[in-house]
Amino acid sequence: IAGLQSFLQMMEATPKPATPVLSKLGLVPTMGALHAGHLSLIERARHENRWVIVSIFVNPLQFAPTEDLDRYPRPLEQDQQRCQAAGVDAIFAPTSSEILGDGDEGLTAVVPPAHLDDGLCGPFRPGHFQGVATIVLKLLNLVRPDRAYFGQKDAQQLVIIQRLVQDLNVPVEIVPCPTVREASGLALSSRNQYLDARADAAIIYQGLQAAQQRFESGVREREALLNTVRHRLAPVPEVEIEYVDLVDPVTLEPLSEVKDVGRVAIATKFSNTRLIDNILLDAR
Ligand code: PAJ
Repeated sequence: IAGLQSFLQMMEATPKPATPVLSKLGLVPTMGALHAGHLSLIERARHENRWVIVSIFVNPLQFAPTEDLDRYPRPLEQDQQRCQAAGVDAIFAPTSSEILGDGDEGLTAVVPPAHLDDGLCGPFRPGHFQGVATIVLKLLNLVRPDRAYFGQKDAQQLVIIQRLVQDLNVPVEIVPCPTVREASGLALSSRNQYLDARADAAIIYQGLQAAQQRFESGVREREALLNTVRHRLAPVPEVEIEYVDLVDPVTLEPLSEVKDVGRVAIATKFSNTRLIDNILLDAR
């Protein structure tokens, strides 16, 4: 935190550049193990800000006791190299105790509105989005960026953060960024390195694309679209569906049919690894 503060002071003291840029400071919050998905957020931030900070913090508040906090990858040196190559100005990688104290006394928490936490991943990961919202607000308050960058891959997280910023009047612009995929279609994730048969996991996106194709051929009804995903995944029983849902992209309310836009979101378990993905259906 002391390092962050001296960076912010140095930034304040630096004269404005001759060529105007969109905004001064961009933040890309991450949990590290940086891949091309994270790098696309960094690249966007690089284009839009004079300064770019990447935060790396594997946030204990968003992991349930049964989840993978301990085995979550932490390749800090490799992350530093990737950030440097991508033109990042500073990495903010605080320790757990710097951010959370000793944890004995508990912490004031940010509670997302129930209707955004009730569906999709919420019921499968109780407390997860509260942990995300709490840490993201702390990061925004510490770094005070003009813009912060988040991936559409975590669509529910993104909606919850947009609401957090709106509801608590946080002076930051949230910039949504598209999902980056492997050539197979599998959405990049730090958890993909747990997978021993990555090729099988590509079926997840194929399922979403099949739904999109049916949508483009005029199908609008919920069960028809969701069954398309289920059928596409059925031949690979190792990819177990936790949920597949069709929701309004802004309110996350389940839709019985798509009028203009909808989001098909899916969570699966594949060899003990939880993978999520989603696709936007847009008839406009
Ligand atoms: P993490 O999983 O490291 O992701 C950091 C950011 O990268 C998130 O905004 C996420 O949506 C984005 N991202 C991940 N994979 C992506 C992909 N394939 N394409 C595009 N963007 C992708 O999400 C978190 O960390 C944490 O919850 C965090 C917001 C840092 C709070 O702890």
